[in-house]
Amino acid sequence: MSTQSPNEAILRQHAEQEFAHEIEALKAVDEHPRPPNWALSPWAVRTYLMGGTLSNGVEISPKYIGQARLMEIAISTLATDRALLLYGLPGTAKSWVSEHLAAAISGDSTLVVQGTAGIGEEALRYGWNYARLIADGPSRAALVPSPVMHALEHGALVRVEELTRVPADVQDSLITILSEKTLPVPELNTEVQARKGFNVIATANNRDKGVNELSSALKRRFNTVVLPVPATLEEETEIVERRVGRLGRALELPVETPALQEIQRIVSVFRELRQGMTADGKTKLKTPSGTLSTAEAISVVNSGMALAAHFGDGQMRAGDVASGLLGAIVKDPVQDKVVWQEYLETVVKERSDWKDLYRACREVL
Ligand SMILES: Nc1ncnc2c1ncn2[C@@H]1O[C@H](COP(=O)(O)OP(=O)(O)OP(=O)(O)O)[C@@H](O)[C@H]1O
Ligand SMILES: [Mg+2]
Repeated sequence: MSTQSPNEAILRQHAEQEFAHEIEALKAVDEHPRPPNWALSPWAVRTYLMGGTLSNGVEISPKYIGQARLMEIAISTLATDRALLLYGLPGTAKSWVSEHLAAAISGDSTLVVQGTAGIGEEALRYGWNYARLIADGPSRAALVPSPVMHALEHGALVRVEELTRVPADVQDSLITILSEKTLPVPELNTEVQARKGFNVIATANNRDKGVNELSSALKRRFNTVVLPVPATLEEETEIVERRVGRLGRALELPVETPALQEIQRIVSVFRELRQGMTADGKTKLKTPSGTLSTAEAISVVNSGMALAAHFGDGQMRAGDVASGLLGAIVKDPVQDKVVWQEYLETVVKERSDWKDLYRACREVL
């Protein structure tokens, strides 16, 4: 559309852009003390994460759905000299919370290091522009700062995603940074000292356990907050509903957000299979090999909405989610298929208001 501003054409905006109006409104009413270099007070950051109505009438949307206490611990950790580790199963909003924390506290969620097995120390410290290095020798102008170095210099938060995928010796380059709050640059015979406001938010997934455990020296420098799987069906349904509503709008899907019951049914399937038990506790179930995270439930609904929008009548139905469900649940073509088939025959088929889902799922099996 020609009327779109450049920002509206961005597929996925950073949290501080997407929720700029909320952050501004919070700043306007925020009279609580702010730690040095924080854009908002811990109180306002909590409101930004948990949602609420401000005294000036502005509505803040909840970003994290779950226990407020966990967010309070995360926020107050960042105001101390300890770093924050968000830990938990896949799809429990670790990256999501980390992005929003950085957006609300530093006004910038873009300082990110993605942890991978092949990552080198320069990703956490600094690298060199080799053309310049060879031409002029080592100088500050030839140095390429990492996001961590940038955060140190600016007193901002830096995010390290999937910290446990980073090889142990590379992880250890964070120790000096976290304990001495400085990054030595021996080549230039200097150091970069952290400005107030600097801290690290790392995320790690407990399914990756054993890949590279955190060294105990590093672990001591983090406070760990474990993000749980949503406690209830209602909570998980709300998470999925909120996310698909936003995603649908961002992608401009010509479709209505599906009815709550339709979302609830999908979330029920995920929860029952994850728990290995029907919601009424009467039937034991085999569990599939995949994680069946909330994030996957979100994408099943989202794909269903896209199918309904483009090849259906704009209203998501059982037929639009059946193949998404199959894809999310059957990761191992042999074992998981048996699990799914058994669930369809013993649970889905027996529920009188799930007949359409049963038929649609049988068709794609
Ligand atoms: N409790 C929750 N509150 C709000 N959103 C949630 C919650 N749990 C999951 N989500 C949603 O799930 C999606 C996936 O979350 P995210 O990518 O942050 O997971 P993760 O924990 O980083 O997973 P991974 O370990 O795979 O990296 C996000 O869109 C997020 O909105
Ligand atoms: Mg993540």
